[in-house]
Amino acid sequence: MSGLFITLEGPEGAGKSTNRDYLANCLQARGINVLLTREPGGTPLAERIRELLLAPTDEPMAADTELLLMFAARAQHLETVIRPALQRGEVVLCDRFTDATYAYQGGGRGLSFARIAILEEFVQGALRPDLTLVFDLPVEVGLSRAAARGRLDRFEQEGRGFFEAVRKTYLQRAAVAPSRYRVIDAGQPLAEVQQALDQLLPELLERCLA
Ligand SMILES: Nc1ncnc2c1ncn2[C@@H]1O[C@H](COP(=O)(O)OP(=O)(O)O)[C@@H](O)[C@H]1O
Ligand SMILES: [Mg+2]
Repeated sequence: MSGLFITLEGPEGAGKSTNRDYLANCLQARGINVLLTREPGGTPLAERIRELLLAPTDEPMAADTELLLMFAARAQHLETVIRPALQRGEVVLCDRFTDATYAYQGGGRGLSFARIAILEEFVQGALRPDLTLVFDLPVEVGLSRAAARGRLDRFEQEGRGFFEAVRKTYLQRAAVAPSRYRVIDAGQPLAEVQQALDQLLPELLERCLA
């Protein structure tokens, strides 16, 4: 594979989507082929699984069901979108990926990281993101930004403790593998977040063109 696989992570309201578009514009302006996508979802079938995952339900969803649906959607997305794009040499910018599974289903729901790792290996083989940007911000700031967007989805309805665990898991993962992760202070005004991204650009461009 010759492309570059970049994922954007962080809680609701961290600015992943906003900054994914910003980064895509920066790269496209330099003639780089960028594919924008997201998880869960990214293909018509995987987006249907996303709807199952996000819609509030009367019947509580078992944590294992949630985990397996995440990886089912991911298998579809990898097979039909991500791997082909990487094979074409494109830069894939993906809004959430398996780090979110560790953070939400592992940290948030309390499922064991070892079991998640088994599914990661099963579905992805050796494929891991080349670079993961973690948009980090205080839980209440993210929640209030997400709440301002309107109706809350099944995850956004979780309590503060859930999101503290999500945040902690992201930061722990970034701390153990610093070469793959860049933690961005997403609690700052957007202009400053984008300045931080601008500082990352030379390194990104170097890797995109390598
Ligand atoms: N640094 C920031 N400061 C203030 N508001 C922000 C910032 N980044 C994003 N926003 C706003 O917060 C909301 C959530 O941003 P979004 O990019 O959708 O986050 P995510 O995709 O991580 O949930 C949007 O209304 C966006 O305009
Ligand atoms: Mg988003």
